[in-house]
Amino acid sequence: MTREEAQKRLEELRELIHYHNYRYYVLDSPEIPDAEYDRLFQELLELEKQFPELVTPDSPSQRVGAPPLEEFETVAHTIPMLSLDNAFSTEEIRDFDERCRRLLGVSGPLEYVAEPKLDGLAIELVYENGIFTVGSTRGDGFTGENVTQNLRTIKSIPLRLITRELPAPERLEVRGEVIMEVEAFRRLNREREARGEPLFANPRNAAAGSVRQLDPSVTASRPLDMYCYGYGQILGPTFATHLEVLEAFRKWGLKVNPYVQLCRGVEEVEAYHRRMAEMREKLPYEIDGIVVKVNRLDYQQRLGQKTRSPRWAIAWKFEARQEITQVVDIVAQVGRTGALTPVAILKPVRVAGVVVSRATLHNQDEVDRLGVRIGDWVVVQRAGDVIPEIVSVVTSRRTGEEKPYRLPDRCPVCGAKVVRLEGEVAHRCTNASCPAQLKERIKHFASKRAMDIDGLGEKLIDQLVDKGLVKDVADLYYLKKEDLVKLERMGEKSAQNIIDAIEASKERPPDRILFALGIRHVGEHMARVLMNHFGSFEALKRASYEDLITVPEVGPTVAESVLSFFQQPENLALLDRLAKAGVRLERAAPVAAGPRPLEGKTFVFTGALASMSREEAEELVQRLGGRAASSVSRKTDYVVVGANPGSKAERARELGVPMISEEEFLRMAGVATENKRE
Ligand code: IVH
Repeated sequence: MTREEAQKRLEELRELIHYHNYRYYVLDSPEIPDAEYDRLFQELLELEKQFPELVTPDSPSQRVGAPPLEEFETVAHTIPMLSLDNAFSTEEIRDFDERCRRLLGVSGPLEYVAEPKLDGLAIELVYENGIFTVGSTRGDGFTGENVTQNLRTIKSIPLRLITRELPAPERLEVRGEVIMEVEAFRRLNREREARGEPLFANPRNAAAGSVRQLDPSVTASRPLDMYCYGYGQILGPTFATHLEVLEAFRKWGLKVNPYVQLCRGVEEVEAYHRRMAEMREKLPYEIDGIVVKVNRLDYQQRLGQKTRSPRWAIAWKFEARQEITQVVDIVAQVGRTGALTPVAILKPVRVAGVVVSRATLHNQDEVDRLGVRIGDWVVVQRAGDVIPEIVSVVTSRRTGEEKPYRLPDRCPVCGAKVVRLEGEVAHRCTNASCPAQLKERIKHFASKRAMDIDGLGEKLIDQLVDKGLVKDVADLYYLKKEDLVKLERMGEKSAQNIIDAIEASKERPPDRILFALGIRHVGEHMARVLMNHFGSFEALKRASYEDLITVPEVGPTVAESVLSFFQQPENLALLDRLAKAGVRLERAAPVAAGPRPLEGKTFVFTGALASMSREEAEELVQRLGGRAASSVSRKTDYVVVGANPGSKAERARELGVPMISEEEFLRMAGVATENKRE
């Protein structure tokens, strides 16, 4: 190939790769398979190796490879990067709205743009004639650190702007937030823990730490993303509104958050805040509020700024997810497998709208790792719908009165010996008929996703066990109405309702019964896998280790656990008594008599589906002859991607497993999409 030919092909390749990067990282909608992309990239690398003088700074190959720095250079921002005033209530946001309208002399509703307030690191990107030249941190607002080489490694930052629809400005200073998704942050911390490295406290610190890295290859290994929401200097085009600027960003291939919304008047801003506060739990990245900006740029100009913050924008924060409170006591709670969980009893504190008075400490190792003592002040966190947990101890508030904690060596409920088995983190009560374990087992047995016995709640279970009416789950089916009416707060009618609910539960399918038994390592999904394969309890009981281990998804841990369950005579007796009471153990798992369009295909689901729950989708797959797996491997045929997919989508991409939408899946399954729930 001549130099000229190479030059021409290199230009083509760069153009193509930039375009596919944009489809993949900015639009999340790849157009070509990964293998094809890899071929293009490989060709680029080889040509550039042959003709090193033709390498340009905006080549996609330049995302990695810059050598580590001794320290960062500083960059002066042309226009200072301001921060925002905070509002914490509707009153404060109304004050903001009134102030804006008064200063502008506007009597009607004012147009605002509302955006998620991303919890990451603010940075500025400079594009000169469409080429990314300098990237910097916010620093003190006037000067930041030059982190260009690191930002180059972030795939959603274009190395050059797309100019098909809009010409590139002579100079463009784009501002935005570099973030790390929560799932990626957890994965990174797990890897760091395994290597004995210090953990990042939260996704924001992980993002900031990754950008402010002297070695760009380290940044390159971290899954970072960037959303653009503002600007410094723009030489060239002019705009009338903030929304127009964001639209231009999108056309240039810069990533803009999809939840940005135009609000007419303060009421719409309030509705947006409510919507995003709910959405917060479902987003793959952390947001700590919304940002409200006056849309018209001439209005922004007129409103001007104070020393550190503009008058035309405000951050409306959500309630904090972390608060400080005191550990009043630590108690040991006995679970259904006998595991003792240390639980911190807290001085009640409001965290993100919910009063928290207990937090799990998981196990003794966690107590030791945190170094938490009774009387300590601690940081508690409520993330998503997870049980509140203690993040760290505020050691500076110690008085010396705090008492260290160890799990007891006798069960706090039955007094039996507590042991910690080789290779396990949990301490366990050794008494299989410990009432605490029994109560937990019954609670699990009766729960919605297991036998779904309506009305059999915690208080009733406590009484049944304490009065000796129920010694195992089979006893539930031998209860008489007369037994129940004797209990506290139990009328004739509610007693009958409970008897009826217990009766109705006899009809649950075998996989639900298997799950309800609470065999270790046999969750809802595994129970379905096992019953789908073996068809009945009888067959499962007869299965050998080899039979079990050959079932897809069943590993040694599950196989051993199932074997050991069916080897124990008391468990066999329990099954017998369940069967005698009329629980339908021996019915084969339902197999569709109709067509089996998914025969032999393995599906994995990620993200939320619109038309059904994950469990319903898995059931559908199995009914139609396919297999629903919980993790992506090379054996997966399709990954069905719902809203806000997690790391499974990433894994599928890595392995080249085809990803399909919910609609495509429903089409394959032959399910009419009219049935779709809104
Ligand atoms: S606008 C003058 N928009 O919040 C306007 N900031 O508290 C300044 N942030 O330093 C920023 N999401 O790091 C803006 N959609 C958004 C934002 C956002 C997060 C951060 C940014 C800024 C800080 C100010």
